Amino acid sequence: MLDLLIAASQENSLTDLDIREEVDTFMFEGHDTTAAGIMYTLLLLAEHRDIQERVRIEIDNVMQENEGKLNMSSLQNLSYLERCIKEALRLYPSVFFILRNPGEDVKLRNYLFSHFFVVYIFEHVTYNTYNTTCILLNVK
Ligand code: HEM
Repeated sequence: MLDLLIAASQENSLTDLDIREEVDTFMFEGHDTTAAGIMYTLLLLAEHRDIQERVRIEIDNVMQENEGKLNMSSLQNLSYLERCIKEALRLYPSVFFILRNPGEDVKLRNYLFSHFFVVYIFEHVTYNTYNTTCILLNVK
C-alpha cells in the first residue's frame, strides 16, 4: 500500500502531507479495530472453554502438520478459529456504526431517505437482531 502511495507521489498526484494522512488513517484503522477484535475473541474463548479447546486442538494439528510452525499459508488452515473471530466480530463489531449520505433521494418501503440526510447504520444492532435500526439526521 505504501509503495502505491509513493508511486502516486512520484506522479505528483499526492504530496508528502497526503501520504502522511493516509498512513495515519491505516495506523489508526488498523490497530484499534484489530485490537478490539482480538480482545473480544479472547474474552469469548475464555468464557466458552469447550470452544477454546476446539481452537487449541485445531492449532495443535495445523502446527504438527507444519513442523511446529505457523506461517501465512498454514494460518489459512485455521478455519474453526476464523469462524470464531468472525462470530466475535458479529457479536461485538469493532466498528459498531457507520454513517452514509445517500447522495440522492432513495425510497425504501414507506421511508424516504432524502439526499441531505445522514444515515447512521448500527452494525451492532443489525448483526444481532432481525431489525435494521438507523437514525436519520436532517443536515439541510
Ligand atoms: C477487525 C479488523 C477491522 C475491521 C472490523 C474494520 C472495519 C472497517 C469498516 C467497517 C470500515 C468502513 C468505515 C466506513 O465506511 O464508514 C473500514 C474502513 C477502513 N479500514 Fe478497516 N477494519 C479492520 C481492520 C483494518 C486494518 C488492519 C486496516 C489497515 C491496516 C484498515 C484500514 C481501513 C481503511 C484505510 C479504511 C477506510 C477509511 C476511510 O474511508 O477513511 N482496517 N474498516
